[in-house]
Amino acid sequence: MTFVLEVNTSDIKGGCFLALQTSSNLQKVLAFQNPPHLHQNQTKMSQFKTVLVAGGLSGGLGKFIVEEFVANGDYNVKILSRSSSLTEKAAEIEKYKSVGVEVVAAEYTDHAGLVKALKGVDVVVSTVGTAVIETQISLIKAAEEAGVKRFIPSEFGSDISKIPSPVFNHKRQISEYLRTTTLEYTIFYTNYWLDTILFFAEWDLTAGKAIIIGDGNDRFTVTHRKDVAKFVVASLSNPKSRNAVHGTASAVVTWRELLSLAEKHSGKKFDVTYKDLGSVQAELAATKDFTHEYVRDTVLSIAAQGLGLVEESVAVDYPEIKVITPDQFFREFYNKA
Ligand SMILES: NC(=O)c1ccc[n+]([C@@H]2O[C@H](COP(=O)([O-])OP(=O)(O)OC[C@H]3O[C@@H](n4cnc5c(N)ncnc54)[C@H](OP(=O)(O)O)[C@@H]3O)[C@@H](O)[C@H]2O)c1
Repeated sequence: MTFVLEVNTSDIKGGCFLALQTSSNLQKVLAFQNPPHLHQNQTKMSQFKTVLVAGGLSGGLGKFIVEEFVANGDYNVKILSRSSSLTEKAAEIEKYKSVGVEVVAAEYTDHAGLVKALKGVDVVVSTVGTAVIETQISLIKAAEEAGVKRFIPSEFGSDISKIPSPVFNHKRQISEYLRTTTLEYTIFYTNYWLDTILFFAEWDLTAGKAIIIGDGNDRFTVTHRKDVAKFVVASLSNPKSRNAVHGTASAVVTWRELLSLAEKHSGKKFDVTYKDLGSVQAELAATKDFTHEYVRDTVLSIAAQGLGLVEESVAVDYPEIKVITPDQFFREFYNKA
Protein backbone atom coordinates (compact mmCIF):
# COMPACT_ATOMS: atom_id res chain seq x y z
CA MET A 1 0.00 0.00 0.00
CA THR A 2 1.44 3.43 -0.90
CA PHE A 3 0.62 6.91 0.42
CA VAL A 4 1.68 10.27 -0.90
CA LEU A 5 2.61 12.50 2.02
CA GLU A 6 3.12 16.12 2.81
CA VAL A 7 6.22 15.97 4.98
CA ASN A 8 7.13 18.40 7.72
CA THR A 9 10.17 18.26 9.94
CA SER A 10 8.57 16.17 12.63
CA ASP A 11 7.63 13.61 9.98
CA ILE A 12 11.19 12.91 8.93
CA LYS A 13 11.78 9.34 9.89
CA GLY A 14 14.24 7.13 8.17
CA GLY A 15 13.67 3.73 6.71
CA CYS A 16 10.14 4.04 5.45
CA PHE A 17 10.80 6.97 3.14
CA LEU A 18 12.39 6.88 -0.26
CA ALA A 19 12.62 9.70 -2.73
CA LEU A 20 11.25 8.87 -6.10
CA GLN A 21 11.79 10.86 -9.23
CA THR A 22 9.44 10.10 -12.09
CA SER A 23 10.36 10.46 -15.74
CA SER A 24 8.36 13.69 -15.86
CA ASN A 25 10.74 14.96 -13.17
CA LEU A 26 7.88 15.27 -10.74
CA GLN A 27 9.27 14.57 -7.30
CA LYS A 28 7.26 12.77 -4.71
CA VAL A 29 7.99 11.49 -1.31
CA LEU A 30 6.27 8.25 -0.67
CA ALA A 31 5.86 6.33 2.51
CA PHE A 32 5.32 2.71 1.84
CA GLN A 33 4.55 -0.59 3.38
CA ASN A 34 5.51 -3.59 1.28
CA PRO A 35 5.72 -1.53 -1.92
CA PRO A 36 5.63 -3.85 -4.89
CA HIS A 37 8.07 -1.75 -6.96
CA LEU A 38 10.97 -1.99 -4.52
CA HIS A 39 13.59 -4.68 -4.60
CA GLN A 40 13.28 -5.99 -1.11
CA ASN A 41 15.73 -8.30 0.50
CA GLN A 42 14.10 -11.70 0.27
CA THR A 43 16.68 -14.02 1.80
CA LYS A 44 19.23 -13.67 4.55
CA MET A 45 21.65 -16.16 3.00
CA SER A 46 24.78 -14.80 1.39
CA GLN A 47 26.61 -16.78 -1.27
CA PHE A 48 29.82 -14.95 -0.31
CA LYS A 49 32.29 -15.85 2.41
CA THR A 50 35.33 -13.59 2.21
CA VAL A 51 35.08 -9.84 1.77
CA LEU A 52 37.84 -7.27 1.37
CA VAL A 53 37.41 -3.55 1.97
CA ALA A 54 39.94 -1.48 0.02
CA GLY A 55 40.67 1.69 1.97
CA GLY A 56 38.96 0.24 5.05
CA LEU A 57 41.83 0.65 7.50
CA SER A 58 41.11 4.28 8.32
CA GLY A 59 39.08 5.61 5.39
CA GLY A 60 36.15 7.93 6.09
CA LEU A 61 33.60 5.38 4.89
CA GLY A 62 35.68 2.20 4.75
CA LYS A 63 36.11 1.88 8.51
CA PHE A 64 32.32 1.85 9.01
CA ILE A 65 31.94 -0.89 6.40
CA VAL A 66 34.65 -3.01 8.05
CA GLU A 67 32.99 -2.53 11.45
CA GLU A 68 29.61 -3.57 10.03
CA PHE A 69 31.04 -6.73 8.45
CA VAL A 70 32.68 -7.57 11.78
CA ALA A 71 29.41 -6.95 13.65
CA ASN A 72 27.52 -9.11 11.15
CA GLY A 73 29.81 -12.06 11.88
CA ASP A 74 29.03 -14.04 8.71
CA TYR A 75 32.14 -13.13 6.75
CA ASN A 76 35.91 -13.47 6.77
CA VAL A 77 36.92 -9.82 6.64
CA LYS A 78 40.05 -8.40 5.06
CA ILE A 79 41.25 -4.86 4.55
CA LEU A 80 43.48 -3.74 1.70
CA SER A 81 45.80 -0.89 2.57
CA ARG A 82 48.75 0.54 0.69
CA SER A 83 52.06 -0.82 2.00
CA SER A 84 53.19 2.79 2.34
CA SER A 85 50.34 3.52 4.79
CA LEU A 86 50.90 0.64 7.18
CA THR A 87 53.67 2.08 9.33
CA GLU A 88 51.50 5.04 10.40
CA LYS A 89 48.52 2.83 11.17
CA ALA A 90 49.90 0.24 13.59
CA ALA A 91 47.19 0.99 16.18
CA GLU A 92 44.35 0.39 13.69
CA ILE A 93 45.98 -2.84 12.47
CA GLU A 94 46.22 -4.16 16.03
CA LYS A 95 42.60 -3.19 16.73
CA TYR A 96 41.36 -5.09 13.68
CA LYS A 97 43.63 -8.11 14.29
CA SER A 98 42.06 -8.49 17.72
CA VAL A 99 38.64 -8.99 16.10
CA GLY A 100 39.90 -11.36 13.40
CA VAL A 101 40.27 -8.89 10.51
CA GLU A 102 43.31 -9.45 8.31
CA VAL A 103 45.06 -6.41 6.87
CA VAL A 104 46.73 -7.13 3.53
CA ALA A 105 49.12 -4.68 1.94
CA ALA A 106 49.67 -3.78 -1.70
CA GLU A 107 50.30 -0.69 -3.79
CA TYR A 108 47.64 0.09 -6.37
CA THR A 109 50.41 0.26 -9.01
CA ASP A 110 51.63 -3.30 -8.28
CA HIS A 111 49.43 -5.66 -10.31
CA ALA A 112 51.04 -8.91 -9.08
CA GLY A 113 50.87 -7.67 -5.46
CA LEU A 114 47.19 -6.78 -5.85
CA VAL A 115 46.33 -10.16 -7.41
CA LYS A 116 48.09 -11.90 -4.51
CA ALA A 117 46.20 -9.76 -1.97
CA LEU A 118 42.85 -10.53 -3.62
CA LYS A 119 43.26 -14.32 -3.98
CA GLY A 120 40.46 -16.12 -2.14
CA VAL A 121 38.35 -12.96 -1.85
CA ASP A 122 34.71 -13.19 -3.00
CA VAL A 123 33.72 -9.54 -2.76
CA VAL A 124 35.80 -6.37 -3.01
CA VAL A 125 34.22 -3.24 -1.55
CA SER A 126 36.25 -0.31 -2.77
CA THR A 127 36.18 2.81 -0.62
CA VAL A 128 39.22 4.59 -2.05
CA GLY A 129 39.07 8.37 -1.67
CA THR A 130 37.61 10.89 -4.11
CA ALA A 131 41.05 12.06 -5.28
CA VAL A 132 42.19 8.57 -6.33
CA ILE A 133 39.06 7.07 -7.90
CA GLU A 134 41.00 6.07 -11.05
CA THR A 135 43.23 3.71 -9.02
CA GLN A 136 40.27 1.33 -9.14
CA ILE A 137 41.09 0.34 -12.74
CA SER A 138 44.11 -1.58 -11.45
CA LEU A 139 42.06 -2.94 -8.55
CA ILE A 140 39.32 -4.18 -10.90
CA LYS A 141 41.86 -5.79 -13.26
CA ALA A 142 43.52 -7.57 -10.34
CA ALA A 143 40.13 -8.62 -8.92
CA GLU A 144 39.18 -10.22 -12.23
CA GLU A 145 42.47 -12.09 -12.43
CA ALA A 146 42.29 -13.22 -8.79
CA GLY A 147 38.82 -14.74 -9.29
CA VAL A 148 36.85 -12.21 -7.20
CA LYS A 149 33.11 -12.60 -7.81
CA ARG A 150 31.70 -9.14 -7.04
CA PHE A 151 33.13 -5.62 -7.04
CA ILE A 152 31.43 -2.70 -5.29
CA PRO A 153 33.09 0.47 -6.60
CA SER A 154 33.82 3.60 -4.62
CA GLU A 155 30.70 5.55 -5.61
CA PHE A 156 28.56 6.20 -2.51
CA GLY A 157 27.34 9.60 -3.69
CA SER A 158 24.72 11.12 -5.95
CA ASP A 159 23.35 9.56 -9.10
CA ILE A 160 26.10 10.86 -11.36
CA SER A 161 24.43 9.48 -14.46
CA LYS A 162 22.14 12.54 -14.20
CA ILE A 163 24.86 15.07 -13.37
CA PRO A 164 27.13 16.07 -16.27
CA SER A 165 29.84 17.80 -14.18
CA PRO A 166 33.44 16.77 -15.03
CA VAL A 167 34.02 16.36 -11.27
CA PHE A 168 32.45 12.91 -11.63
CA ASN A 169 34.23 11.81 -14.84
CA HIS A 170 36.48 9.30 -13.07
CA LYS A 171 33.55 7.69 -11.26
CA ARG A 172 31.65 7.42 -14.55
CA GLN A 173 34.69 5.83 -16.25
CA ILE A 174 35.07 3.30 -13.44
CA SER A 175 31.45 2.17 -13.52
CA GLU A 176 31.54 1.95 -17.33
CA TYR A 177 34.73 -0.09 -17.19
CA LEU A 178 33.37 -2.35 -14.45
CA ARG A 179 30.37 -3.20 -16.60
CA THR A 180 32.69 -4.51 -19.35
CA THR A 181 34.33 -7.04 -17.03
CA THR A 182 33.25 -10.50 -15.88
CA LEU A 183 32.80 -9.22 -12.32
CA GLU A 184 29.38 -8.81 -10.76
CA TYR A 185 28.82 -5.30 -9.42
CA THR A 186 26.55 -3.24 -7.19
CA ILE A 187 26.75 0.53 -7.49
CA PHE A 188 25.52 2.46 -4.44
CA TYR A 189 23.91 5.87 -4.78
CA THR A 190 23.59 7.20 -1.25
CA ASN A 191 23.55 10.90 -2.07
CA TYR A 192 24.87 13.08 0.79
CA TRP A 193 26.21 11.50 3.96
CA LEU A 194 24.03 12.69 6.82
CA ASP A 195 26.92 12.81 9.28
CA THR A 196 29.35 14.81 7.10
CA ILE A 197 27.42 16.91 4.56
CA LEU A 198 26.73 19.87 6.86
CA PHE A 199 30.41 20.21 7.70
CA PHE A 200 31.30 19.95 4.00
CA ALA A 201 28.66 22.64 3.37
CA GLU A 202 30.50 24.77 5.96
CA TRP A 203 27.64 24.99 8.41
CA ASP A 204 28.88 25.90 11.87
CA LEU A 205 26.61 23.87 14.13
CA THR A 206 28.23 25.26 17.26
CA ALA A 207 28.11 28.94 16.37
CA GLY A 208 24.73 28.52 14.64
CA LYS A 209 25.58 29.45 11.03
CA ALA A 210 24.33 27.83 7.83
CA ILE A 211 24.85 28.34 4.10
CA ILE A 212 22.20 27.17 1.64
CA ILE A 213 22.37 27.17 -2.15
CA GLY A 214 18.92 27.86 -3.61
CA ASP A 215 15.78 28.39 -1.53
CA GLY A 216 16.37 25.32 0.63
CA ASN A 217 13.07 23.65 -0.29
CA ASP A 218 14.32 20.97 -2.69
CA ARG A 219 14.02 17.42 -1.48
CA PHE A 220 17.06 15.15 -1.44
CA THR A 221 18.23 12.02 0.30
CA VAL A 222 20.81 11.72 3.06
CA THR A 223 22.43 8.53 4.30
CA HIS A 224 24.42 8.20 7.51
CA ARG A 225 27.75 6.39 6.93
CA LYS A 226 26.71 3.73 9.45
CA ASP A 227 23.61 3.10 7.31
CA VAL A 228 25.68 3.03 4.10
CA ALA A 229 27.69 0.25 5.75
CA LYS A 230 24.53 -1.62 6.75
CA PHE A 231 23.12 -1.37 3.21
CA VAL A 232 26.39 -2.68 1.72
CA VAL A 233 26.48 -5.68 4.06
CA ALA A 234 22.76 -6.41 3.53
CA SER A 235 23.16 -6.23 -0.26
CA LEU A 236 25.33 -9.34 -0.23
CA SER A 237 22.35 -11.43 0.90
CA ASN A 238 20.00 -9.81 -1.60
CA PRO A 239 19.79 -11.62 -4.96
CA LYS A 240 18.56 -8.37 -6.55
CA SER A 241 21.89 -6.66 -5.87
CA ARG A 242 23.69 -8.60 -8.62
CA ASN A 243 24.70 -6.22 -11.43
CA ALA A 244 22.48 -3.51 -10.02
CA VAL A 245 22.42 0.12 -9.02
CA HIS A 246 21.25 0.43 -5.43
CA GLY A 247 19.69 3.74 -4.43
CA THR A 248 19.60 3.69 -0.64
CA ALA A 249 18.84 6.37 1.93
CA SER A 250 18.40 7.04 5.62
CA ALA A 251 15.88 9.82 4.95
CA VAL A 252 14.51 12.40 2.55
CA VAL A 253 14.98 16.00 3.67
CA THR A 254 15.29 19.61 2.56
CA TRP A 255 17.98 22.04 3.77
CA ARG A 256 15.26 23.98 5.60
CA GLU A 257 14.18 20.85 7.44
CA LEU A 258 17.79 20.16 8.45
CA LEU A 259 18.08 23.77 9.57
CA SER A 260 14.94 23.48 11.62
CA LEU A 261 16.27 20.34 13.33
CA ALA A 262 19.61 22.04 14.03
CA GLU A 263 17.76 24.96 15.62
CA LYS A 264 15.51 22.65 17.64
CA HIS A 265 18.38 20.60 19.09
CA SER A 266 20.83 23.47 19.59
CA GLY A 267 18.21 25.81 21.00
CA LYS A 268 19.69 28.55 18.77
CA LYS A 269 18.27 30.59 15.91
CA PHE A 270 20.71 30.08 13.03
CA ASP A 271 22.18 32.84 10.92
CA VAL A 272 21.56 31.62 7.35
CA THR A 273 23.25 32.80 4.14
CA TYR A 274 21.30 31.91 1.00
CA LYS A 275 23.32 31.69 -2.22
CA ASP A 276 21.55 32.08 -5.52
CA LEU A 277 21.82 28.86 -7.60
CA GLY A 278 22.18 30.78 -10.89
CA SER A 279 25.12 32.82 -9.55
CA VAL A 280 26.80 29.70 -8.16
CA GLN A 281 26.39 27.94 -11.50
CA ALA A 282 27.82 30.95 -13.38
CA GLU A 283 30.87 30.89 -11.09
CA LEU A 284 31.27 27.14 -11.64
CA ALA A 285 31.08 27.60 -15.42
CA ALA A 286 33.86 30.21 -15.26
CA THR A 287 36.16 28.01 -13.16
CA LYS A 288 38.73 25.82 -14.85
CA ASP A 289 40.41 24.06 -11.90
CA PHE A 290 38.97 21.53 -9.49
CA THR A 291 39.54 23.73 -6.44
CA HIS A 292 37.96 22.77 -3.11
CA GLU A 293 35.35 25.52 -3.62
CA TYR A 294 34.55 24.23 -7.11
CA VAL A 295 33.97 20.66 -5.90
CA ARG A 296 32.04 21.86 -2.84
CA ASP A 297 29.67 24.07 -4.85
CA THR A 298 29.24 21.40 -7.55
CA VAL A 299 28.26 18.84 -4.93
CA LEU A 300 25.96 21.19 -2.99
CA SER A 301 24.23 22.41 -6.17
CA ILE A 302 23.02 18.86 -6.81
CA ALA A 303 20.24 19.24 -4.24
CA ALA A 304 19.35 22.76 -5.37
CA GLN A 305 18.90 21.46 -8.94
CA GLY A 306 16.48 18.80 -7.72
CA LEU A 307 18.95 16.04 -8.54
CA GLY A 308 19.47 14.70 -5.04
CA LEU A 309 16.76 12.07 -5.18
CA VAL A 310 16.89 8.45 -6.20
CA GLU A 311 15.24 7.18 -9.37
CA GLU A 312 12.34 4.86 -8.63
CA SER A 313 13.89 2.20 -10.86
CA VAL A 314 16.96 1.87 -8.61
CA ALA A 315 15.45 2.65 -5.19
CA VAL A 316 16.03 -0.23 -2.79
CA ASP A 317 14.59 -0.64 0.67
CA TYR A 318 15.93 -2.83 3.45
CA PRO A 319 13.05 -2.58 5.92
CA GLU A 320 14.91 -4.69 8.48
CA ILE A 321 17.56 -1.96 8.81
CA LYS A 322 16.83 0.60 11.50
CA VAL A 323 18.33 3.71 9.98
CA ILE A 324 19.69 6.81 11.70
CA THR A 325 17.27 9.70 11.25
CA PRO A 326 18.27 13.36 10.91
CA ASP A 327 16.52 14.02 14.21
CA GLN A 328 18.68 11.37 15.90
CA PHE A 329 21.84 12.73 14.23
CA PHE A 330 21.27 16.26 15.56
CA ARG A 331 20.20 15.07 19.00
CA GLU A 332 23.38 13.02 19.37
CA PHE A 333 25.55 15.82 17.95
CA TYR A 334 24.30 18.39 20.46
CA ASN A 335 24.31 15.93 23.36
CA LYS A 336 28.04 15.35 22.74
CA ALA A 337 28.86 19.03 22.14
N1 LIG B 1 28.09 10.97 -0.30
C1 LIG B 1 28.92 11.76 0.33
O1 LIG B 1 28.51 12.74 1.00
C2 LIG B 1 30.39 11.47 0.27
C3 LIG B 1 31.28 12.21 1.06
C4 LIG B 1 32.64 11.93 0.98
C5 LIG B 1 33.08 10.91 0.13
N2 LIG B 1 32.19 10.23 -0.64
C6 LIG B 1 32.65 9.13 -1.53
O2 LIG B 1 32.86 7.96 -0.74
C7 LIG B 1 34.01 7.23 -1.21
C8 LIG B 1 35.02 7.05 -0.09
O3 LIG B 1 35.45 8.33 0.33
P1 LIG B 1 36.22 8.55 1.73
O4 LIG B 1 36.11 10.01 2.02
O5 LIG B 1 35.73 7.57 2.71
O6 LIG B 1 37.72 8.19 1.31
P2 LIG B 1 39.06 8.63 2.07
O7 LIG B 1 38.87 8.52 3.52
O8 LIG B 1 39.52 9.95 1.51
O9 LIG B 1 40.10 7.56 1.52
C9 LIG B 1 39.87 6.17 1.72
C10 LIG B 1 41.18 5.42 1.59
O10 LIG B 1 41.64 5.44 0.23
C11 LIG B 1 42.95 4.83 0.28
N3 LIG B 1 43.82 5.30 -0.80
C12 LIG B 1 44.15 4.56 -1.89
N4 LIG B 1 45.03 5.19 -2.67
C13 LIG B 1 45.27 6.37 -2.09
C14 LIG B 1 46.11 7.45 -2.45
N5 LIG B 1 46.88 7.46 -3.53
N6 LIG B 1 46.11 8.52 -1.64
C15 LIG B 1 45.32 8.56 -0.52
N7 LIG B 1 44.52 7.53 -0.12
C16 LIG B 1 44.48 6.43 -0.92
C17 LIG B 1 43.50 5.16 1.70
O11 LIG B 1 43.65 3.92 2.38
P3 LIG B 1 45.11 3.32 2.73
O12 LIG B 1 45.95 4.48 3.13
O13 LIG B 1 44.81 2.39 3.86
O14 LIG B 1 45.57 2.67 1.48
C18 LIG B 1 42.38 5.96 2.34
O15 LIG B 1 42.24 5.76 3.72
C19 LIG B 1 34.52 8.03 -2.41
O16 LIG B 1 33.97 7.49 -3.58
C20 LIG B 1 33.98 9.42 -2.18
O17 LIG B 1 33.80 10.17 -3.38
C21 LIG B 1 30.86 10.46 -0.57
